[in-house]
Amino acid sequence: MEGDEVIKVSDLRVAFGPHEVVRGLSFKVRRGEIVGLVGASGSGKTVLLRTMLGLLRKSSGSVEIMGVRLEQATPAESRRIGGRCGMMFQQGALFSSLTLRENVEFPMREYLHGSDAMYADVALAKLGMVGLSIEDADKLPSEISGGMTKRVAIARALALDPDILFLDEPTSGLDPIAAGEIDRLIRTLQRVLNLTVFMATHDLNSLKSVCTRIIALYDGRIVAQGAMHDILAFEHPWLRAYFQGERGRAAQIS
Ligand SMILES: Nc1ncnc2c1ncn2[C@@H]1O[C@H](COP(=O)(O)OP(=O)(O)O)[C@@H](O)[C@H]1O
Ligand SMILES: [Mg+2]
Repeated sequence: MEGDEVIKVSDLRVAFGPHEVVRGLSFKVRRGEIVGLVGASGSGKTVLLRTMLGLLRKSSGSVEIMGVRLEQATPAESRRIGGRCGMMFQQGALFSSLTLRENVEFPMREYLHGSDAMYADVALAKLGMVGLSIEDADKLPSEISGGMTKRVAIARALALDPDILFLDEPTSGLDPIAAGEIDRLIRTLQRVLNLTVFMATHDLNSLKSVCTRIIALYDGRIVAQGAMHDILAFEHPWLRAYFQGERGRAAQIS
């Protein structure tokens, strides 16, 4: 793996029975990039993210994170890499019976050997980092808005001070103002914490304002990758329809 590459995916394939969802993907991500993975609903974005984190079994190919090939990693290496990667899931982001603070403490309890007081302090600091107050910390997920839920999920993904942040649809289901705030938060966190961010999104505003590079998936394969203007110049029917459609124009990307 070359110096500043933190993710290297090679000819990755993932299938569910006879249905191959990820069909031979290869790409690299360098330190400090914010890569946006775009593709129609059902194109395999979530499956790819989960496979990259070792949560789903691949049928072939390899995933290398921070110099460690996941399939060859020892349990200790897997655990170390797991601690370097923070993940925000698309659905079921938070444990409903735990307070916001307890949700953020959860990965620490799993990975660290600290005291309750330390976990609480760090959790409050992480909640502060994503814009929540100490008063919010004892609320339950059912008591907060969609935008706050996404923030807490990001705070939990940051619990172990990861190097790489994986986000699955961080703005889905939010109104444009709340989505814009999440976009700003992702940019700020990337800069301040020196993160590499890999995010699945079909939010054109996020792709335009947050991502430094875009990887476009269609039918389980990469059809284009590059900066926004490269993607816009690409002749592919789905990309054309997507980026030139109503929503694309609304996001003023062209
Ligand atoms: N656990 C699973 N078992 C069987 N099929 C699945 C499973 N998870 C996802 N799929 C299928 O894989 C395809 C890609 O899904 P997904 O990655 O969730 O799409 P996206 O996140 O791009 O909307 C879909 O056809 C979906 O039905
Ligand atoms: Mg998805």
